[in-house]
Amino acid sequence: MFRIGNLSAEELREKYGTPLYVYDEVQIKANINEYKDNFKSKLYDTKIIYASKAFSSLYMYKLVKENNIGVDVVSGGELYGVIKEKIDPNNIHFHGNNKSEAEMDMAIGYKVKNIIVDNYDELKMWAKKTPSINYELNIMLRINVGVSAHTHEYIITAHPDSKFGYYIENEDIFDSIKLIDSTPNMKFMGFSTHIGSQIFDMRGFELTIEKLFELMKKTNRKIEYLCLGGGCGVKYTDADKPITLKEFSNILIDKVDNEIKRTGISISELSIEPGRSLVGNAGYQIYTINQMKKALNKTYYFIDGGMNDNIRPALYGALYSVDIANKIDEAKTEVVSIAGKCCESGDVLFKDVKLPKAEANDLLVVYTTGAYGYSMASNYNRLPRPAVVFVDGNNSRLAIKRETYEDLYKNDLD
Ligand SMILES: Cc1ncc(COP(=O)(O)O)c(C=O)c1O
Repeated sequence: MFRIGNLSAEELREKYGTPLYVYDEVQIKANINEYKDNFKSKLYDTKIIYASKAFSSLYMYKLVKENNIGVDVVSGGELYGVIKEKIDPNNIHFHGNNKSEAEMDMAIGYKVKNIIVDNYDELKMWAKKTPSINYELNIMLRINVGVSAHTHEYIITAHPDSKFGYYIENEDIFDSIKLIDSTPNMKFMGFSTHIGSQIFDMRGFELTIEKLFELMKKTNRKIEYLCLGGGCGVKYTDADKPITLKEFSNILIDKVDNEIKRTGISISELSIEPGRSLVGNAGYQIYTINQMKKALNKTYYFIDGGMNDNIRPALYGALYSVDIANKIDEAKTEVVSIAGKCCESGDVLFKDVKLPKAEANDLLVVYTTGAYGYSMASNYNRLPRPAVVFVDGNNSRLAIKRETYEDLYKNDLD
């Protein structure tokens, strides 16, 4: 029987039901520590900032706080969570394009220190507010370096026409720095970038770092801070060959150190914003297989969840590895497709996977579902979102309750 920590998938089903998201807390901490131990340089301070769009919950924010790393939020909703969890405002990095005025006021109300400005219009909105506030904002400009990382097109965020950030060739970067310098309570800190996600090929990062140093040179002033975003890939299937977090960190640090030596331009702090690589491999989904069906050429196993709890296969063809948790040692004699219960023919989560012959009530485990799973879940077909459980060795705790039918209608008016 497959186990997460010391708890079997069956024990977890008995206690919490299925479908279920399960996080191995030990793995999350190991990932954080691998980054902390290796993303270090003698030339500047470094910071790990968790990109909480990958998975947010109050308990996850608590782990962020306990492990003393920063956190990236992109919306009022994520901001609300970190405020509720009383995260130090100096450790909050507020990202996102098209921040609303209400979101800005919420950030200012909590004295959020680090603002990653996406475009000149946004900067002007902040500049109207800061003269009347009683603390200083650290302003970083998000730069679109125009590098496309080698990954799936929907997850790329830094091609020249991306909606995110200041395009690196545009003059408004310099206009923005001038505006920051002339506005009370704003301090220009430097640049932030994010070139894409699920990246295995580090050349995109190396080129990005070179381009950022060229930009820093053009500004002709001291730049305190650089952020290289997230993007480190994880292993979903055997076809993925990710590098370790140690290798990823070492390559970035070596490149930045070399650029400092080559250009003579120094920085005070370098950060990264891992999302997927911090929680992805710590997460599992467990479903109950209810029914099997033979179509003309395909066999389907039907599970009690679907695209509402994992949209990634339907959204951008994401692939995963799966097993029958209670038949982990049995021969994989069948080639089957795993379909969910949504009324959508695209709701086939895992196509043509090899598995043992299933019976009703078997448990399907899906690996590496910790990132962009729960955070992208929906209530399509009025399906309640599953519960989220954290396992630490022999212990488990409910981090997010399973939605009830009552929850699904709580905002409806008849
Ligand atoms: C600005 C920024 N930082 C970090 C991340 C996290 O990326 P990943 O989950 O690939 O590490 C994202 C993801 O979209 C992002 O947009």
